[in-house]
Amino acid sequence: MNKETVVGVLGAGSMGSGIAQIAATQKHQVVLVDLNDAALVKAEASLNKILARLVEKEKIDEATSKAIIGRIKFSNTVNDFSNCGIIIEAIIENVKVKQQVFTELESIVSEDCILASNTSSLSIASIASACKKSDRVIGIHFFNPAPLMPLVEIIPAVQTAEATKDTARALIDSWKKVTVLTKDTPGFIVNRVARPFYGEALKIYEEGIADFATIDWAMTELGGFRMGPFTLMDYIGNDVNYTVTETVFAAFYNDPRYRPSFTQKRHSEAGWFGRKSGRGFFDYAEGVEKPEPNKDEELGGEIVNRIVVMLINEAADALFLNIATKEDIDLAMTKGVNYPCGLLEWADAIGLEEVLLRLEFLHAEYGDDRYRPSVLLRRLVREDKTFYN
Ligand SMILES: NC(=O)c1ccc[n+]([C@@H]2O[C@H](COP(=O)([O-])OP(=O)(O)OC[C@H]3O[C@@H](n4cnc5c(N)ncnc54)[C@H](O)[C@@H]3O)[C@@H](O)[C@H]2O)c1
Repeated sequence: MNKETVVGVLGAGSMGSGIAQIAATQKHQVVLVDLNDAALVKAEASLNKILARLVEKEKIDEATSKAIIGRIKFSNTVNDFSNCGIIIEAIIENVKVKQQVFTELESIVSEDCILASNTSSLSIASIASACKKSDRVIGIHFFNPAPLMPLVEIIPAVQTAEATKDTARALIDSWKKVTVLTKDTPGFIVNRVARPFYGEALKIYEEGIADFATIDWAMTELGGFRMGPFTLMDYIGNDVNYTVTETVFAAFYNDPRYRPSFTQKRHSEAGWFGRKSGRGFFDYAEGVEKPEPNKDEELGGEIVNRIVVMLINEAADALFLNIATKEDIDLAMTKGVNYPCGLLEWADAIGLEEVLLRLEFLHAEYGDDRYRPSVLLRRLVREDKTFYN
């Protein structure tokens, strides 16, 4: 594929319009389709606003801004996809709807058109199964906001052809994104490995060890994370974050490592979604100040240690199960969710024996399989090895 390739994007919501912006900025002609005319109007207005801001900040000039928007055709019919070389679907997260759409897309496009899904949680194999030529289907998972987040997960399904994978990855690489290759398993890399960032923070709160503000303070000030777990959950939306956790938990056949939290469920049920509803774990009303954390460094250190070893355990297990390479697992967490350091590299720096000891302590203390150390971690310690050596 080259710049002559016409890129189709289906769904003009937050992800679809971001992906269209990237492709048009990379000089592709883009067809952005949404069945809802209001969504198209909104997407065009929001893209114009974003481009105007980039001109204001002198990141691009006026002519470039005009050229970018000029390359995007806003349309309400999939028939306009007929000459696309690739279509990236970013519609509602529902497998039945996606399958219907993929069957329809296949009847419109040419034999060699790649059909990609931006799904966060559905299996690519199930989406591909709706196509006769299922080897042309692949997952291409962008992060929000797509134009700003460098990471893109490339997810071949069991049906996907090597050539589809190579072509899709080369195209996204040419858009100056950081691509990582991952197996078609629940949560791919990022949404799987990141679960303890939320789940363990919630559990620490539920046990009465610390309040939201203190846990956030510990994770940012002592742990070096850009955002604390509760601020981040409020930003993502507790409804969205809870649903992802529940989906991952079910997809892993109720593995206790991914068990959702009642605290978050109740916040979500109460309509305390976070920033978008004005209240979540914190109150976002005008004039309300964030509560003060307890800046006890010993307590803070314990909080960071507990969450970080759980994250490392998840990363180690993803590597053990060949979900991705160690380099891609580390890259995914630094480029997809801005972690201060790759988790496997972090584990080596702490010392694998120390990581294992902390996990074994939690496992013994709670008697909960949630804390079982990854086999890979045990094996490396036994063989006196590290992840990178
Ligand atoms: N929001 C995120 O943070 C995020 C991140 C990565 C991936 N994703 C995934 O991207 C996809 C889209 O998410 P979003 O947040 O942009 O959703 P959104 O609700 O903002 O936008 C979805 C758009 O799809 C349109 N649509 C629905 N059904 C359609 C159909 N049959 N044909 C054409 N258009 C249709 C809707 O009108 C809407 O404009 C989902 O699969 C989601 O899981 C979301």
